[in-house]
Amino acid sequence: MILIKPMSNDIHDMIATVACESALAAGMVAHRGFVNASPETLATEQKAGFFDIVTASDKAAERAACDTIWSRIPTSRILGEEGGWQGEGDTTWIIDPIDGTSNFASGLPFFCVSIAAYHKGEPVCGVVYDPVREELFLANQGRLTLNGKKVEPFLRGRTDREVEVLTNAPYEGERPSRAAQEAHADLVNSFRAVRRLGSCALHLAYVAVGRVAVCYESKFSAWDIAAGIQLVEAAGGQVYVQDAAGSRLEPNEDALGSVKRLVVAQAGFDYQSSNLSKQMKDGIL
Ligand code: IPD
Ligand code: CA
Ligand code: CA
Repeated sequence: MILIKPMSNDIHDMIATVACESALAAGMVAHRGFVNASPETLATEQKAGFFDIVTASDKAAERAACDTIWSRIPTSRILGEEGGWQGEGDTTWIIDPIDGTSNFASGLPFFCVSIAAYHKGEPVCGVVYDPVREELFLANQGRLTLNGKKVEPFLRGRTDREVEVLTNAPYEGERPSRAAQEAHADLVNSFRAVRRLGSCALHLAYVAVGRVAVCYESKFSAWDIAAGIQLVEAAGGQVYVQDAAGSRLEPNEDALGSVKRLVVAQAGFDYQSSNLSKQMKDGIL
């Protein structure tokens, strides 16, 4: 059962409550579309190419999330993956209504809703909701919970050899450069296992709660990473983000659009001696 914190007068608590409600509303639409898969729920269009799709359920889930937010906090500006920027106000929301659309459309039960909120430029909360497993990951004011319970992450290992890495590399839809192929071969050679589960936001949530020690992503958008970064930070984990030129950035609201490469890891993981730290220095996309 998913526990949502009761409303209080504090604006941050209210935003976190609305974030959870909105993730549940979008998640319900996505789950219904998945379980009752049909030409209507899976009506698909291509975006950047055959490897980048949107379904009718993505659009309906985003509408459900936005409607929930505006009905509760009208002074909200929202960046949704499908709708772009809409609205005006002090509270900013970054929404991925279904992260893992290719899984969703294929019948693989590994996708989620991802919602991050900021108030007057300050991060307030990040929510990742998996409607299949009914798991709601929430970072709120520096506290990480899973279905309302505080999470005490278990360290999976300190070195590459001891752990699995989650990644989206090599990215779909293009032949990786020779350098990127070499970099991927290095990953495969360094880690106990390399997994591409197909949802960036769930990858980050899984590191936050300690199901996996480390995750590396490249070529993504702000809505793929905004909530997950807050989850990892609330867990006390490590976050390394870079722009396309390889410069390190602070993962704040303004910089999110420029982030092109990211590693998150559990607190005790030895990032400096990991193959991933070398990959980040080499700046290979
Ligand atoms: C995608 C997924 C995928 C990642 C892509 C994202 P979408 O999001 O997170 O794992 O490799 O970069 O675009 O399109 O399913 O919302
Ligand atoms: Ca996404
Ligand atoms: Ca999406």
